Amino acid sequence: MSTTTENKFQEIISHAKEYGFVFQSSEIYDGLSAVYDYGPYGSELKKNIRDYWWKSMTQMHENIVGLDAAIFMHPLTWKASGHVDNFSDPMIDNKDSNKRYRVDHLIEGLADTLREEGKKEEATALINKMDQLLAAEDFIALKELLISNNIKCAISGTANWTDIRQFNLMFSTEMGSVAEEANTIYLRPETAQGIFVNFLNVQKTARMKIPFGIAQTGKAFRNEIVARQFIFRMREFEQMEMQFFVRPGTQKEWYEYWKEARLQWHLSLGLPAEKYRYHDHVKLAHYADAALDIEYEFPFGFKEVEGIHSRTDFDLKNHQLLSGKKMQYFDNDIDPATNKPYGNYIPYVVETSIGLDRMFLLILSHSFAEEKWTKEDGKEDSRVVLRIPAKIAPLKLAILPLVKKDGLPEIAREIMNDCKGSFRCFYEEKDTIGKRYRRMDAIGTPFCITIDHQTKEDQTVTIRYRDTMQQERIPLAQVKEKVLAATL
Ligand code: GAP
Repeated sequence: MSTTTENKFQEIISHAKEYGFVFQSSEIYDGLSAVYDYGPYGSELKKNIRDYWWKSMTQMHENIVGLDAAIFMHPLTWKASGHVDNFSDPMIDNKDSNKRYRVDHLIEGLADTLREEGKKEEATALINKMDQLLAAEDFIALKELLISNNIKCAISGTANWTDIRQFNLMFSTEMGSVAEEANTIYLRPETAQGIFVNFLNVQKTARMKIPFGIAQTGKAFRNEIVARQFIFRMREFEQMEMQFFVRPGTQKEWYEYWKEARLQWHLSLGLPAEKYRYHDHVKLAHYADAALDIEYEFPFGFKEVEGIHSRTDFDLKNHQLLSGKKMQYFDNDIDPATNKPYGNYIPYVVETSIGLDRMFLLILSHSFAEEKWTKEDGKEDSRVVLRIPAKIAPLKLAILPLVKKDGLPEIAREIMNDCKGSFRCFYEEKDTIGKRYRRMDAIGTPFCITIDHQTKEDQTVTIRYRDTMQQERIPLAQVKEKVLAATL
């Protein structure tokens, strides 16, 4: 990361803390690495992103329904899903510092530096080579790649590496009070398995016909060895996942459909298309026949925010095998090739999986701006503003009486009472209007209205727009409608 982008990222992190978006978990005990808490505005923003996703998936698709499965699942779930045997990252230790690294992170770090130095082709060649070796699980050649590129430990400054080994990322705990009888169970590393094991319950009770989807949001846990970049890579995080069940043989066309549909979801928030790109996977996860990442250009470079995976029938087939329960669907649509119903089969699955915390960081990265300008009187002015899309902004409207007297607070309270059932409002009468505007800019409130003495005369208020800082006078009666139109 260059110094400027590093600085910008540090400013975003400080701003997130100062204005009540994100706190380090258990901060009074010096924190817990890669675990974070969301404060008053952070929890609102997070909820709004979740709701925006949920609505787009369920309310806007008649053939997608929701689920809220438990975090704990039967231990065999993770055997069937392949996570017990395959959910690991290749890691390497530096013998001098005893620091452990993910091998792909070390190589990506060098590729980032090469790009910053303008050596784009070298960076691409390095990443391609790494992808090839990871796909072949050739850890000897991968270690040679580290050494031949002179990749060193940031702490010891040496290239004195151990061999590369695989580490499983699942957290385990025990269920049951008596140690000998206790069962090892896992904290789910993805929410998807709760959907797979409930596939027939949902299909039957909601009377779904293929193709159909099941959407779920919830916590997932991974013992990330190298947890970096604030809330980008956490040990406890939240996913928003949708499994779309399709007829075998049609997975490719649904994969293309969801690849496009999910990018459009991001753009529907007004996020810039040029900040996005697709990245096809070379090394496929153990369950996939095709996979790609939707990447966004964070201050630290293009990184994955969402995955689209064609998961075949891998999960349902293995759950059928280990549970002994049929995971089949009866398709009574007529197959034109045989003129008979398609009949019984295990559906194929196309998954869309986005990290809620990562989307939150994306929104912060996109929104954060420091602005400076010269006023008409020649004096300098500045502000820090979060240009959060209005639809997901933590607060939608600030209601500000100009002074604490002359009946203005009473009018402001009336507006508050009228609007607060429809969207999140904020009432404030302390400090100058300028200071109050700045505070609202800093937490991304798209609209402020000021109630002044003229309001008493003609029932108009001044509305101020966060992004342009323009102000205009509008009838009081139009405020609610205007905010609703921009935020729904
Ligand atoms: N069910 C498929 C699955 O879990 P994944 O690519 O491992 O696929 C999906 O994860 C998304 O979850 C990622 O695109 C990312 O946004 C988010 N995610 C994964 N690991 C994360 C972590 N340690 N911290 C924050 N978000 C994470």
